[in-house]
Amino acid sequence: MNIRQLEKIDTLFVNCHLCTMADDRLSVIPDGALAVTGQQIAWVGKEEELPEALLKNIHLKARIIDCKNRWILPGFVDCHTHLVWAGSRCREFEQRLLGVSYEEIARSGGGILSTVTATRAAGHAQLYEASANRLTALIHNGITTVEIKTGYGLDLDSELKMLEVIQQLDQSFPVHIEPTFLGAHALPPEFKDDPDAYIEQVTQVLIPRVKSQGIATAVDAFCESIAFTPKQTASVFRAAADAGFNIKLHAEQLSDSGGAALAAEFNALSCDHLEYLSGESARKMAQKKVTAVLLPGAFYYLHETKKPPVQLCRDLNISMALATDLNPGSSPVFSMTLIMNMACNLFGMTCEEALLGATINSAKALGLDSKKGSLEPEKEADLVIWDIETPSDLCYLAGLEPVKQVMIKGGFLDTKA
Ligand code: NIG
Ligand code: FE
Repeated sequence: MNIRQLEKIDTLFVNCHLCTMADDRLSVIPDGALAVTGQQIAWVGKEEELPEALLKNIHLKARIIDCKNRWILPGFVDCHTHLVWAGSRCREFEQRLLGVSYEEIARSGGGILSTVTATRAAGHAQLYEASANRLTALIHNGITTVEIKTGYGLDLDSELKMLEVIQQLDQSFPVHIEPTFLGAHALPPEFKDDPDAYIEQVTQVLIPRVKSQGIATAVDAFCESIAFTPKQTASVFRAAADAGFNIKLHAEQLSDSGGAALAAEFNALSCDHLEYLSGESARKMAQKKVTAVLLPGAFYYLHETKKPPVQLCRDLNISMALATDLNPGSSPVFSMTLIMNMACNLFGMTCEEALLGATINSAKALGLDSKKGSLEPEKEADLVIWDIETPSDLCYLAGLEPVKQVMIKGGFLDTKA
């Protein structure tokens, strides 16, 4: 029994059903109880088995929460977002509805570059306010850990401005934020005739500066026909690995460019998108235990028809994570439950796979699975009480967001409940 006997219990949830995600399964505990001490989970189990010693350790001012038969799940981990941006790409959404493709829009100077123009022009306060509103929406939808990428600045000052906004969000919100430097997201206009020179700028100037300021934990890149080649991506990864960053990659979204194999070679935490992932690259990902982050929001918004190879990932035992990919172009999606619904309906994932994908596997994609993503003793007390009849309701019901209460690191959030 994992009770930290000497510390007092601050919060005890009773009369609840738990879906803990321990042991890479839903690991359901009906009629459960969960105890929190400080920022951590102290005990999880059947309510009738609550140990005497734990009950004695309950703080005089402890909160005893009667969950009225509701479900408790770990807070969602959103392991891939581009949440900090300025401007809107609604016009591009309308163009795509008329048949213009994402690639055509990108090649004609729109797409990511139109958000770069707007983000460069925005002041810190304006960028912070827009981003804080988005983050608030994510949290109210049950997300308690968020990765946020740069990549709409693409020059030193603008990338640092984005990182400073991410840092301010981290200081102002209880949610855990993982900042990722995505300098190699697109080729900025001032380098349009010399992509290698931009990559040199990223590896020689931007990565060292981001490292010295200590304001990002990972480096990401976009390896694709409309972005960077595997060779250019490899240069970025070498600089990132030398500086001690975690590595992630956007790859095989629009074509098979070989990025996933490269991500495996560099021991990336995750490789993301993967609609065009080949069997050979998938085997390399499996060997190196690279998590596959699937992004059904982008698949849906871009009217993609090629699905990521979910069965191959199952066969090779590759962990599949899900994320909103929240961004103004390919995935303006704020809801993890909607993403899970899309993962089931569009990619053929089971409800269990989708729920694991939004929690423990997403924590793996960030290297945070020892602290986040499941309800187990000594993990951080990030959890959501849901007004549902069964965990699969979170995949089945679209647009409802039945969040009752959100706890992050042992503290309750004011919610709509
Ligand atoms: O994950 N694929 C590249 N990056 C983003 C899209 C960013 C954008 O269109 O602004 C993605 O889909
Ligand atoms: Fe992305």
